[in-house]
Amino acid sequence: MCGIFAYNGTQNSVPFLIEWLRNLEYRGYDSAGIYCINNKKEALLEKAIWKVSNLATKVERNKEKLDNYNSGIAHTRWATHGKVTVENTHPHYSQNERFYVVHNGIIENYMELKEHLQKKYTFYSDTDTEVVSKLVEELFDWDIFSTLEKVTNKLVWAYAIAIIDKENPETLVGAKLGSPMIVWIGENGVFLSSDINAISNVAHEFTTLEDNETVELKNGNYTVYSLGEVVKKETEEVDDRFEKADKGIFETFTEKEIHEIPSVLRNALKGRINFETKEINNETLSALNEYDIDNIEIIASGSSYFAWVVGASWFKEVAQIKAEVRISSEFLYETFIPSKRTLYIFMSQSGETADVREWLKMVKQKGCLTFGIVNVVGSTIARMCDMGLYSHSGIEIWVASTKNIVAQLAVLLTMSISMWLNRDLQMKDAKAYIEKLEELPNKLEGQLEQKNTIKVLAKKYSKYSNFFYLGKNLLYWTACECSLKLKELSYVHAEAYSTGELKHGPLALITPDFPVIAINPKNELRDKNISNIKEIKARSGTVLGVITAGDTTKEIYDDVIEMPKTHNILTPFLPLIPLWLFSVEIAKELGKDIDKPQNLAKSVTVE
Ligand code: AGP
Ligand code: GLU
Repeated sequence: MCGIFAYNGTQNSVPFLIEWLRNLEYRGYDSAGIYCINNKKEALLEKAIWKVSNLATKVERNKEKLDNYNSGIAHTRWATHGKVTVENTHPHYSQNERFYVVHNGIIENYMELKEHLQKKYTFYSDTDTEVVSKLVEELFDWDIFSTLEKVTNKLVWAYAIAIIDKENPETLVGAKLGSPMIVWIGENGVFLSSDINAISNVAHEFTTLEDNETVELKNGNYTVYSLGEVVKKETEEVDDRFEKADKGIFETFTEKEIHEIPSVLRNALKGRINFETKEINNETLSALNEYDIDNIEIIASGSSYFAWVVGASWFKEVAQIKAEVRISSEFLYETFIPSKRTLYIFMSQSGETADVREWLKMVKQKGCLTFGIVNVVGSTIARMCDMGLYSHSGIEIWVASTKNIVAQLAVLLTMSISMWLNRDLQMKDAKAYIEKLEELPNKLEGQLEQKNTIKVLAKKYSKYSNFFYLGKNLLYWTACECSLKLKELSYVHAEAYSTGELKHGPLALITPDFPVIAINPKNELRDKNISNIKEIKARSGTVLGVITAGDTTKEIYDDVIEMPKTHNILTPFLPLIPLWLFSVEIAKELGKDIDKPQNLAKSVTVE
């Protein structure tokens, strides 16, 4: 993942490199570093492990040394190769300490390159990136820009790199293949970054680089090249969709985002469903209905994948269309049989997830119809798809995905209803769904009021080290999502099973100290689930039930969290807010950093 940033201009780059690095920190926070230089060739290299604030403190200590370093590169790391150490922190440099490199991605042939380079140079880190800095030294032809081309010709996938030549600090160069990169001209110079989040408050417009393009930043301007030729690039305007993240009254961004869910859902539905006429009202969905589609394949990762499985069931149950879901990291290596009557849907909050993006590339090469459901406007996946809908959940910057999952579910359900209506099915049944959907945001709002009850439960359950999350049918996937959130936020082990599966093995682990979270709304599956819950209770298991308010079976559980009643098809929405809040509260009890969980990053741009 990693975030890279570079500046060349007239200002002292140190303070704003640090500030903008903080904005990129969601891409990784294992360590951070900067290399800055002025026209007199005086330079500053600073690195620190963990958060950017540690780097800031280190830089602050050298305040008196902070001269007008008007060129600089910066990096916030999500370690892929080599532990979290100062040595492995970027920028990496050549043996002659002339070339400094920051890199986002994985150089897949780095071992082979390193073996060759080790004959000439001594390596100080375990990263793949260091080979790039040594390669620059080896292939240097007295022009950093033409050297860059020679270097990138040797690299196998994937990179966004920025390089400074200490002897020519007025020029900065960059190249990308696979990892994102943007450039723009600001008031006091020219800038390069992994994404728009770092700059939304300072840039007015920006240019996105495509794979195999290189860029030269010089004299307050930039020039983009492809295969040695200058490319005329379009610029995009920065608008308010790149809003600055703000925690407001909340302790953490994650809690703020959970509290935004009802309004996110209202917005996601409002623009697409006319609640007065009970009709779907969306141009993209109407255009989609013009295609002859008899199958849907859905590709996503992580939480987006769990939302997708629910969506696939809706496509089958509601729209009566065959839908298959694929985990993008697996699907990439399966045999792909393209079909012109299949709609390939790619769903990603960030729009940058490497496994999803690679699949999309392949499907596009085969000329199949691609549809994106993405949150980040203008992201790689959004730009690549033939058509799509934004989930429009607003900025979701820290690691745990919450409000965007609800927005994704809303888009999926709206799509399935639209496709259903297009197949001449009963309008009156669709109306019933739409009516219930209209009521849903208020119901979810009510769930936020359970916060104190959940806090008390979390205090009790935070002493346990292992959890099972159970659910049946669509709610099995909700159980998967909620168990992922507990792992992610509190580092407590949690596994999800379909309720009926427990007795096929995992039941062996049940003790009073291995609690079970059983999602069991009052529907036709409730009593089947109750039989399985009784089997757990018969073995002295501890069960926290997530059940429908007013359900008279309450006493079979040790504790309960209540959910409102709704149409059966909408039940996957209901356990999310309480169980996400439960994970947040457990993480708080255990003193974890909720917004920045260990080992993770928000945007997974490496395979
Ligand atoms: C969600 O809480 C996770 N951090 C993670 O599983 C995430 O959903 C996954 O990496 C996919 O990301 P995307 O939606 O940006 O593609
Ligand atoms: N592979 C590089 C490292 O481990 C960059 C990592 C990344 O972009 O995620 O330092």
